[in-house]
Amino acid sequence: MPVRNICCIGAGYVGGPTCSVIAYKCHDIKVTIVDLNQARIDAWNSDNLPIYEPGLDEIVFERRGKNLFFTTDVDGAIQEADLIFVSVNTPTKKSGMGAGMAADLAYVEGATRRIAEVAKSSKIVVEKSTVPCRTAQSMRTILEANSTPGIHFDICSNPEFLAEGTAIKDLLNPDRVLIGALQTPEGIAAQKALAEVYTHWVPADRVITTNLWSSELSKLAANALLAQRISSINALSAICEATGADVDEVAYACGRDSRIGSKFLKASVGFGGSCFQKDILNLVYLSEQLHLPEVAAYWKQVVIMNEYQKKRFVRHIISTLFNTITNKKIAVLGFAFKKDTGDTREAAAITLIKDFIQEHARVAVYDPKVDHEQIFRDLSEPGVIDTRKEVEKHVTICASAYEACHDADAVVLVTEWDEFRDTALDYQKVYDNMHKPAFLFDGRLILDAAKLRQIGFKVSVIGKNELAGTA
Ligand code: NAD
Ligand code: UDX
Repeated sequence: MPVRNICCIGAGYVGGPTCSVIAYKCHDIKVTIVDLNQARIDAWNSDNLPIYEPGLDEIVFERRGKNLFFTTDVDGAIQEADLIFVSVNTPTKKSGMGAGMAADLAYVEGATRRIAEVAKSSKIVVEKSTVPCRTAQSMRTILEANSTPGIHFDICSNPEFLAEGTAIKDLLNPDRVLIGALQTPEGIAAQKALAEVYTHWVPADRVITTNLWSSELSKLAANALLAQRISSINALSAICEATGADVDEVAYACGRDSRIGSKFLKASVGFGGSCFQKDILNLVYLSEQLHLPEVAAYWKQVVIMNEYQKKRFVRHIISTLFNTITNKKIAVLGFAFKKDTGDTREAAAITLIKDFIQEHARVAVYDPKVDHEQIFRDLSEPGVIDTRKEVEKHVTICASAYEACHDADAVVLVTEWDEFRDTALDYQKVYDNMHKPAFLFDGRLILDAAKLRQIGFKVSVIGKNELAGTA
């Protein structure tokens, strides 16, 4: 039976855009996105959507109220649906067994129990959240143990590969859609029904079908492989600085080998975002649980290298500023974990600014999309008033890059927003208003260092040997 009514549990960065695109492409399907968070749902129903994603507004505004709905009536939407996406958060556990590594599955379990309790007809339940391998088995056990007799649940795994900032582009034109299911007649039928939703706009040969466990593991594997490339190029960036090699040239030369490929080889101040670190730690935990310590250590090194890269950058900034940044003004350009998003989860800027505060610097931050209150929240320990006060004493949030850089001793470029490029920002004006010597640290390799040196800046770029002060 073709799917006619979809419920998505979780109106976050994944559930919101993914199911809005389904509604946009499948006018014959009613899509209802639900969440427990009233404020989030209110924002989805307003002119000011809760997340910034290029192209999202147009899609939501076109379909909302037609075949796309946002509500907190979770039970009603579950009852109506023939297919339910579970797209809730799966953060790293903060306490208990596996704290700091394992995924917290409480939200997935909560949503699954709710489905079992309120469903009055059979459903296809789709795991959209990123979960440890074999979570579908736990979901099945919960659903079967709690459901009304006669009701049947099929479970599919359909991990999401969108990247923030390009979510709409990725969803409209995905490299692939992955659907895992039990290889039983019912499982295969559910897999086919879900595939038919996607083939409304995705070419059929891009829809990959696998068994459940391959699908679950592929999501963790894909993120681990992507993050590993960044840690690899960042590890090489340290060698570049020490030797005089240029990391962009090395990345280009290696990336031209078609076996290596050119993408995801941009050295940086370190990867951020809600997924990479969480999913690798999840993989590390899984490996440990499976008594595979060498495998766990191998993947853990990707995260260790990422932390090293951030610390290395901070150390270099401090040593360049004559070994002290006490009372110096540091302008931080960008706070989001990458450009074109307002998301700050695991953003490198958080680590950097916390270190600057520890060193008693005055920090001025500007980001075009991140909410001011979010910046303070990210920099303060949750619920600890003292750290909040300390942060407010040291950190000013500015309305423009020029304001942040005014009277600064150093500018640190952390997020690669286009408006920070030397073709967009007037660096002469920035320089004229800074203390001298005017230091500029490019953590994203987007600036033309030679051009900026001509203005008078002392420029350091990750992975270029001038960072070591030898050029
Ligand atoms: P998010 O925190 O933005 O959104 C999750 C939403 O689920 C929240 O609004 C929360 O209130 C809601 N929720 C939790 N329990 C609920 C329940 N029982 N009923 C109704 N609503 C409930 O998270 P996200 O970034 O959208 O990520 C969701 C999942 O997708 C995670 O597993 C994540 O790893 C994965 N993922 C994220 C990305 C990304 O770029 N953010 C990409 C791919 C996969
Ligand atoms: C990632 C995966 O790309 C996506 O497939 C998955 O569904 C969710 O996790 P996301 O975290 O949104 O997406 O963004 P991504 O573009 O992967 O960037 C992650 C981090 O790596 C950012 O901080 C980015 O700046 C950094 N990065 C990326 C680099 O430092 N160098 C690169 O070459 C690429």
